[in-house]
Amino acid sequence: MIKEVSYNDILSLFKDYKEDYIISMSNNSKYYAYELNNKYIGFICILDLDTELEIIDVFIEPKYQGNGYGDKLLKYILDNYKNRNYFLEVNVNNERAINLYKKNGFEILTIRKHYYKDEDAYVMSKGGEIHEWCLYTRNWK
Ligand SMILES: CC(C)(COP(=O)(O)OP(=O)(O)OC[C@H]1O[C@@H](n2cnc3c(N)ncnc32)[C@H](O)[C@@H]1OP(=O)(O)O)[C@@H](O)C(=O)NCCC(=O)NCCS
Repeated sequence: MIKEVSYNDILSLFKDYKEDYIISMSNNSKYYAYELNNKYIGFICILDLDTELEIIDVFIEPKYQGNGYGDKLLKYILDNYKNRNYFLEVNVNNERAINLYKKNGFEILTIRKHYYKDEDAYVMSKGGEIHEWCLYTRNWK
């Protein structure tokens, strides 16, 4: 089951992974968590920008990865926030996540050098072009 939770819920549910995966929040960022057998095993964070929607993060606890839960979280967002220009940044070396996004219709739009300190990020989008400011003014990590 997927349900909306607060930023503070995420901080306490996934505190062991805070360093790596809990980034930030803004007034309109939203979190949805995946509940499996009364345990929260992952979440997705989005930033709802009206016509545009940014996928800020998707995370599944390591022992539950590879079982389709990340895919379900992403599809939940695509189903519940329809007809948007979706975009996201992903480490160019994160093959698993890139595959997940490609499988759901995302394409690589451009590359942002040194987005993650020493590593680069792809900007991926689905549904259309994104405004130029998205490529230059955001830096979450
Ligand atoms: C990326 C992540 C969210 C994917 O969630 P998941 O539940 O493990 O992935 P799923 O089981 O739903 O798999 C969905 C797709 O991802 C890809 N994928 C999954 N495991 C993979 C692997 N080991 N190698 C390559 N691609 C893989 C495949 O395309 C897969 O679709 P398929 O099974 O039809 O081939 C999860 O691995 C994770 O939390 N990773 C650490 C955090 C992270 O990197 N988040 C992304 C930040 S942008």
